[in-house]
Amino acid sequence: MKLSCIYVLNLLLNVCLATSINGKFEFSLGNLTKNAIRRTSFNLYQIGNYSTQDPYKTTTHLLDLDGNFKFDDLPINTGINETTYFVLSSSSLDYNLFPNRILIEFVQLENGTLQMNGFKNYFGREYFPSKDITHPDKLDQIAVEPYLTISVIQKAPFRAYFQIRNSGIMNDSGIVGSILNSRWKLAGVITVICVFAFPMFLDKIDPDTAIIMREEALKKKKEQYAN
Ligand SMILES: *[C@@H]1O[C@H](CO)[C@@H](O)[C@H](O)[C@H]1NC(C)=O
Ligand SMILES: *[C@@H]1O[C@H](CO)[C@@H](O)[C@H](O)[C@H]1NC(C)=O
Ligand SMILES: *[C@@H]1O[C@H](CO)[C@@H](O)[C@H](O)[C@H]1NC(C)=O
Ligand SMILES: *[C@@H]1O[C@H](CO)[C@@H](O)[C@H](O)[C@H]1NC(C)=O
Ligand SMILES: *[C@@H]1O[C@H](CO)[C@@H](O)[C@H](O)[C@H]1NC(C)=O
Repeated sequence: MKLSCIYVLNLLLNVCLATSINGKFEFSLGNLTKNAIRRTSFNLYQIGNYSTQDPYKTTTHLLDLDGNFKFDDLPINTGINETTYFVLSSSSLDYNLFPNRILIEFVQLENGTLQMNGFKNYFGREYFPSKDITHPDKLDQIAVEPYLTISVIQKAPFRAYFQIRNSGIMNDSGIVGSILNSRWKLAGVITVICVFAFPMFLDKIDPDTAIIMREEALKKKKEQYAN
């Protein structure tokens, strides 16, 4: 008798205090593969005030090939006008997702209804503004019924994490190749060659001027040392 009372009470409390979030991953780039499903996850973090000992945190994965996912039994702060905040962060190894963060707000209304609101983040501004600041960003509200929608922007760009080192000097990435490929490097090399080669050319073309120039240079040097 006592046990069943506790059970019923527990059930009632759960109905009142716990709730769930439904989400759907709308995949527009063909069919979801098993690999993509396995490498896509949804993390939920409780922020702000919490009634439990530690802020709630959980991870969930896609439930089916249609992209459904769900968070159940969330701890909600009790009391009229009490709010509970969660941040839903979505990640995939294979795709860039949007919104990648969603702020979820639960408000316990006076008539007993638990209202759920969702706000998406702006790209590049991953943290949601604190209510304590004077002019916080106005958040874009998104639909939460029948589910939160996460969509795909694009396939995550493939990155090669290593590059084969090339030893041939004539190759594009070799020493000569890299100089020939860069206008500035090429200009530098030509300038250096001209500076060194000019006196020699002058010697061949106009020996008299070369002699005069050399004497001038010598004179200048002597003056320098004399000072
Ligand atoms: C996606 O899956 C459906 C049903 O399993 C199949 O008919 C369709 O050909 C698939 N499309 C691609 C692009 O693989
Ligand atoms: C947390 O609770 C305190 C006291 O009840 C309240 O002043 C504050 O605004 C709450 N913070 C949030 C984020 O709800
Ligand atoms: C809850 O919020 C509503 C609307 O802001 C307000 O009218 C009401 O007095 C609040 N109730 C409590 C108990 O704070
Ligand atoms: C409680 O109030 C909200 C907003 O005022 C309303 O949408 C909701 O239907 C109400 N719930 C009940 C059970 O009256
Ligand atoms: C230059 O090096 C790359 C990378 O090692 C190689 O794929 C390419 O065939 C080389 N090109 C020439 C012209 O040797």
